[in-house]
Amino acid sequence: MYKVLKREKIVPNIHHLVIESDIIHTNAQAGEFIVVRADEPGERIPLNIADWDEKSVSAVFMEIGTSTRKLAALKAGDEIATLVGPLGKPTEMVEGKNILCIGGCYGIGALLPVVRALKKNGNRIITAIEARSEYLLYWQEKLKEHSDDFYEITRDGTRGFKGHVNDFLAGYLKQNKVDMVYVQGCTYLTYLTSETTRPLEVKTIVGLNPIMVDATGMCGVCRVIVAGETKFGCVDGPEFDGHLVDWQNLLSRRKIYLKEEVYSLSFYECETYG
Ligand SMILES: Cc1cc2nc3c(=O)[nH]c(=O)nc-3n(C[C@H](O)[C@H](O)[C@H](O)COP(=O)(O)OP(=O)(O)OC[C@H]3O[C@@H](n4cnc5c(N)ncnc54)[C@H](O)[C@@H]3O)c2cc1C
Ligand code: FES
Repeated sequence: MYKVLKREKIVPNIHHLVIESDIIHTNAQAGEFIVVRADEPGERIPLNIADWDEKSVSAVFMEIGTSTRKLAALKAGDEIATLVGPLGKPTEMVEGKNILCIGGCYGIGALLPVVRALKKNGNRIITAIEARSEYLLYWQEKLKEHSDDFYEITRDGTRGFKGHVNDFLAGYLKQNKVDMVYVQGCTYLTYLTSETTRPLEVKTIVGLNPIMVDATGMCGVCRVIVAGETKFGCVDGPEFDGHLVDWQNLLSRRKIYLKEEVYSLSFYECETYG
């Protein structure tokens, strides 16, 4: 069992979870993920590592279905049944580049170690975070600390640039020299970013989130098609060149258990709240 040191709601529906671990920091790197299971009958789910130190590892998660509901109900001092990691390939380190790093929803948290590592490696970092509205943005100060420039994008215009990430990107890339775009967040955000940068031929690295089971390359559930080849998100990724990803395949595979997920959540809610 693994002790929860903190579980805090950062903005509506998004939580920061800190779990005790004195081992993950020994080889954790930016871009990697952990697998957690809230309780014994629960499902193993992957979460990007948002930070770590000598005593803990943390993740930012969005409350969406049964497993994340269970995580959202945790308090400091509770225990979870499984913690595995770090898993996946770390972010490829480049140097001397102008890199635009984009994060949305839980991807704002997942962006922190990547921004920090790329900055430390001698890159110029422009960070842009996006949300539907101002009250859904978070971790601005943490990200600014490792960024040369910082932008906020809100669809309703309550803070920063008004519009979608693609509107911001199209304008920004016209006026500024960017060698690479890096994006973390939901599949729609990573897809939209890749489609916007494709005609401009700006290399775009995306953090993908296919459904995973074992997360160690054994079951094949996380397969994605990249440059026409089958790759396993858990061991070959989770980061890939967004211009080479077969997005239709990824988007349809993410919905294959929708019926079971709805059933599971209804069952959980009935059991929990009667
Ligand atoms: C490498 C990786 C990193 C991720 N990092 C984060 C993160 O930092 N924060 C965050 O909030 N989410 C992250 N996710 C997505 C997260 O794993 C799912 O949101 C979570 O599993 C949903 O579980 P649930 O039971 O609450 O929802 P469910 O109702 O079971 O599912 C809701 C949706 O989540 C996806 N999902 C369900 N089960 C899995 C699974 N086992 N593996 C992957 N996706 C699944 C499906 O698309 C599904 O439609 C990541 C996924 C991957 C693959
Ligand atoms: S999750 Fe099983 S092979 Fe990747």
